[in-house]
Amino acid sequence: MHGSIITLLKRYVQTQYDHSTWVKLMELSGLDTVVFDHKTVYPDEHMYALVGHAAEMTGIPAGELHEKFGEYLVPDLMYMYQKMVKPEWKTLDMIEHTEQTMHKQVRLEHTQNMPPVLNVTRLGANELVIDYVSPRRMGGLAVGIVRGLATYFDESDLIDVQPTTSEDGERVRIHVRRSSL
Ligand code: HEM
Repeated sequence: MHGSIITLLKRYVQTQYDHSTWVKLMELSGLDTVVFDHKTVYPDEHMYALVGHAAEMTGIPAGELHEKFGEYLVPDLMYMYQKMVKPEWKTLDMIEHTEQTMHKQVRLEHTQNMPPVLNVTRLGANELVIDYVSPRRMGGLAVGIVRGLATYFDESDLIDVQPTTSEDGERVRIHVRRSSL
């Protein structure tokens, strides 16, 4: 997993909980000697262990934590890749173009980067379906990212996000609809 995502997970835990919670999670995950940075690609197991222990500690299911973390990630992700965003894009356009812009760029940056494949079908101006495909099974993170994008583009009151399959499979279908004003 991309180091930026794990360092943002660290900041998420430190700001939503506190620094000692992060230290405890690292110990429980057997990672107390690991130092995370933005440039390294880390084994996915690190992220699974951290989120798994966080779920045990907080009593919040891992899927729900993934969603909350996905929402939190968006402003930083958008900042990192802002040059690729067209000024006229809103939430649905961003989702529709992620595969050919942001995720394409992430794949080029490092051969070990492997963001999920997002097959997006635009059903109309106000509706699309995302077919998420990834062996990482982080569909909850995708749902959270969609919510975070809606907040980022000031459309959180308008955007409805509905996973229509289980969120923890390798293929997850997510229906996104914008109500017209
Ligand atoms: C806003 C623009 C976006 C940027 C800059 C971005 C960037 C990234 C990066 C850097 C990773 C880590 C990849 C790796 O470690 O191999 C990642 C993973 C991921 N992205 Fe994106 N992403 C964006 C939009 C989206 C959208 C719109 C979705 C879904 C609706 C999405 C879903 C995911 C998920 C679920 C992962 C976790 C890894 C996995 O499931 O395989 N991303 N993204």
